Amino acid sequence: MPGGTTRTTTYFDPYPLYIARGEGCRIWDVDGTERLDLLGNYTAMILGHAHPKVVEAVRKQAAQGTGFAAANPVEVQLAALLCQRVPSLDMVRFCNSGTEATMFAMRLARAFTGRSKIARVEGGYHGTHDYAEVSTHPDVAEAGPPAAPIARPDSIGTPDWALEQTVVLPFNNADAAEAIIRREGGQLAAVILEPIIGAGGVIASTVEYLDRLRSVTRELAVLLIFDEVISLRVAPGGAQQLNGVTPDLTTLGKIIGGGLPVAAFGGRADVMELMDPRRSPNLGQGGTYNGNPLGMAAGLAAMTELTQDVYEELNRKGARVSEQLSEVFASHGVRAQVNGVGSLFAIHFTDRPVVDYRTKASSNRKMTHEFFLGLVNHGVLMAPRAMGALSTPMTEQDIQQFIDAVDAVVTEQRSSWESDRV
Ligand SMILES: Cc1ncc(COP(=O)(O)O)c(C=O)c1O
Repeated sequence: MPGGTTRTTTYFDPYPLYIARGEGCRIWDVDGTERLDLLGNYTAMILGHAHPKVVEAVRKQAAQGTGFAAANPVEVQLAALLCQRVPSLDMVRFCNSGTEATMFAMRLARAFTGRSKIARVEGGYHGTHDYAEVSTHPDVAEAGPPAAPIARPDSIGTPDWALEQTVVLPFNNADAAEAIIRREGGQLAAVILEPIIGAGGVIASTVEYLDRLRSVTRELAVLLIFDEVISLRVAPGGAQQLNGVTPDLTTLGKIIGGGLPVAAFGGRADVMELMDPRRSPNLGQGGTYNGNPLGMAAGLAAMTELTQDVYEELNRKGARVSEQLSEVFASHGVRAQVNGVGSLFAIHFTDRPVVDYRTKASSNRKMTHEFFLGLVNHGVLMAPRAMGALSTPMTEQDIQQFIDAVDAVVTEQRSSWESDRV
């Protein structure tokens, strides 16, 4: 495996962690070192590791078979649960990763509208297919003016056509985004965005921004897609429920699989019906493991545990963590922004409020890396970009352990961070 890993996002210098086991909110590496897991497989493990109900559901299903070339009853149950909870979902289809979910949602939008371009937000993340690998983390010097960003490739190998077919919108700037959408309108199949930018720094959109995107896309018959692969963890119906703005299509992943590789996309019946094999033409969606009963059983068990009360308690803990983190940085005089939404949070080492990609890009990368590595050495795993996600097994004591570890790392690093600034 190049770099010794099979997933670029889990590699970090000097070498990645190799985790042997997890239970609740704790993980153990192959050396036996225990850590508090504040990342939970990039926000997917909302119930922590090896949750008894999920383990039982997987055990039971594994004994009955793990995959058939046929529909199965468990996928019907999970589909019904999702359609009942998420406002925009009349119908849903399963796949295996968020990458596939956004790829199919975009393709479906192109098929439905007969147009080819996709508009997306600068700094948002939608996975790793060609259309997704554009302007997720561009070099600001090459990305054009903040109110009119230009499409930049995120990866070597991203084809030119992906750039030509992508329109980039600034986040949280409703006037500029609307102007760009109006200019491109006749060619746009969809606008896709995370209503809360997750991996890109936990940045919530304003309700005004979402409202404006909703009204202009409706007027121009452009489909609005919310990528709620991460943000479904903030409320039972996701950020669309929280903000009262309903998109045409929604993509889901992470928590809906209970820790197994499950994702989904869905939305308006008249759009989703294009995928009905009884229609001609229809949009085909193969996938050996789509709706596989093992993932469906794990997802159903996990989502059933996530009641309104569980969400509320987790979000209360999230608000307290963000407050406590801000206090720690303030007490040391370290310039940092703590962005928190629900049980998600991210730390940005900058003195500017982080409201979009450009303000996020002003955060200090060296401090972020030293902070992250310091935490690894103090028994805590966050994302290397200093994003974290709480899980339900976390107690007050666990949270205090995290806050104490942050305090210890900042104490160790503060003087070198100050001399860097000089
Ligand atoms: C908002 C969003 N969309 C899509 C994806 C891609 O999901 P996956 O990693 O399952 O392909 C991610 C992954 O982090 C994500 O955060």
